[in-house]
Amino acid sequence: MPLRSEATRWSTVAKTFHWTMALLILGNGAFAFWMDGLKPSLNKINMFALHKSIGLTVLALFLLRVLWRFADRRPPHTPGPRWQMVAMHAVHALLYVLIVALPLTGWAFNSAHGYPLQYFRQFNLPAIVGHDEGLANVLIEVHEYLFWFLLLLLVPHVGGALKHHIVDRDDTLRRMLPFGRAKRSTPTPPGDSA
Ligand code: HEM
Ligand code: HEM
Repeated sequence: MPLRSEATRWSTVAKTFHWTMALLILGNGAFAFWMDGLKPSLNKINMFALHKSIGLTVLALFLLRVLWRFADRRPPHTPGPRWQMVAMHAVHALLYVLIVALPLTGWAFNSAHGYPLQYFRQFNLPAIVGHDEGLANVLIEVHEYLFWFLLLLLVPHVGGALKHHIVDRDDTLRRMLPFGRAKRSTPTPPGDSA
């Protein structure tokens, strides 16, 4: 169970961050849409409180993931045509931006609407913007559309991973799967280890 990533595989820590956050983000988005259809009740308020706490957990995990990324270098990228490398870097960068922007817009909406914010009923968190209903109306739209944008980005992200696995038959997906192991080593193109 390697703690640090190697040339041919992602570390257990990096995989745990990736899959835990993917599940929490997708689950939390689906949870929000499902809750939205419920009739107003105390139960609904409690469920939204849970939605907010899960979202804040994603934000905290992002900070830890970034710190870990500084300490642990990622395995080299699987070489490919230049346009594919550029597209992959752009998608990864946008995914990281969305991982932060989704919780922050949710938090900002919550603040602008004047709702209180508690983390799993343990402690209160402050408002990050002042009470402003006009701003709240914009922020909730942004919050929801960012989630749709994330789903859109998963098309090239997941599609790319499947293409590597099925068409190119390389280890790109296998080395990221929870119990996956690289079958063959992935060659490193010169100067490509960021
Ligand atoms: C992984 C992070 C998050 C994801 C994927 C996410 C996703 C979503 C989505 C898709 C909706 C729209 C539901 C609908 O309109 O039917 C929503 C609503 C909402 N989110 Fe989030 N969210 C996240 C984090 C947060 C955070 C951190 C907060 C607050 C601190 C928050 C507060 C809210 C609130 C209050 C609503 C309901 C707005 C309303 O209709 O009254 N969200 N969220
Ligand atoms: C909300 C869902 C997801 C998010 C936010 C996400 C985000 C990311 C990010 C930011 C990276 C880049 C890691 C880095 O270089 O630091 C990455 C890598 C990766 N993701 Fe995802 N991901 C998600 C879901 C998925 C799914 C469903 C798959 C399955 C096909 C997948 C497969 C991969 C693979 C194979 C890599 C490694 C790519 C490589 O070695 O260059 N991801 N993911």
